[in-house]
Amino acid sequence: MNLSSKTKKWLLIGLPLLVIGSVFIISQYERTSTTHYCGNTCHIMKHPYETAFHSTHREENGVGCKDCHIPHDNLAEQVVYKGYSGARDYYKNTFAEPDVLETKEWSKNILQKNCIRCHTTLVERINVSDGKRCFECHRGEPHDKAIQSFSTEKIFTSIR
Ligand code: HEC
Ligand code: HEC
Ligand code: HEC
Repeated sequence: MNLSSKTKKWLLIGLPLLVIGSVFIISQYERTSTTHYCGNTCHIMKHPYETAFHSTHREENGVGCKDCHIPHDNLAEQVVYKGYSGARDYYKNTFAEPDVLETKEWSKNILQKNCIRCHTTLVERINVSDGKRCFECHRGEPHDKAIQSFSTEKIFTSIR
């Protein structure tokens, strides 16, 4: 190949940087996807973590936070959602601790798809297109009650 010396210089500097950068991003992506990370980074995750930890949907049964809370349809949505929700959580936790945890519509749709994804054999003959969401009936999975009913004040007093 006949590359100009300028191009060569850029390749020489750029390629290693690209590789190092990619390895870093991928490792961070994995690190921040573990149940341990999700449950222990912010104070406010204590309650969701504890409840999930003791439920059927716990790590040793092969179910982590990300299996329910992160989309599994395609990698693009996964990356966008994780970036968005992670950044939002950090921002809100740093600048204004929210009073109540609320599950956004986008998150609810993701949760619903994940319930169905794992429980297909059980629910494949049920019409789930326009009825209640799985977790509107199964209120206790995996966080005891609807998380929203815990104000952060209650969360904080319950863990003290
Ligand atoms: C079996 C699936 C499942 C697993 C596993 C799970 N969750 Fe949840 N999570 C839910 C459901 C369902 C809701 C409540 C949705 C509703 O009622 O509106 C919820 C709500 C929440 C909320 C309230 C706000 C929001 O973002 O929706 C937080 C925070 C949360 N979970 C954190 C966690 C953490 C941390 C873990 C891992 C330790 C975890 N969850 C594991 C299903 C799950
Ligand atoms: C990553 C896979 C996975 C996801 C996602 C998942 N589950 Fe499960 N679920 C399991 C496993 C594994 C069990 C335990 C074995 C079994 O009963 O099949 C279980 C058990 C259950 C049970 C029985 C609870 C008990 O105490 O025996 C219910 C109800 C349930 N899941 C509902 C849900 C709902 C609602 C959602 C979505 C919020 C959900 N699951 C998401 C894998 C999953
Ligand atoms: C209208 C309320 C309702 C909706 C919606 C609903 N379920 Fe259920 N589900 C029940 C009831 C009632 C039972 C039987 C009693 C029990 O085991 O808790 C049950 C049982 C189950 C079980 C077996 C629990 C066990 O102990 O073995 C699983 C798993 C389950 N549902 C998953 C789901 C999933 C996934 C969805 C969403 C596609 C869903 N359910 C939607 C009411 C509902």
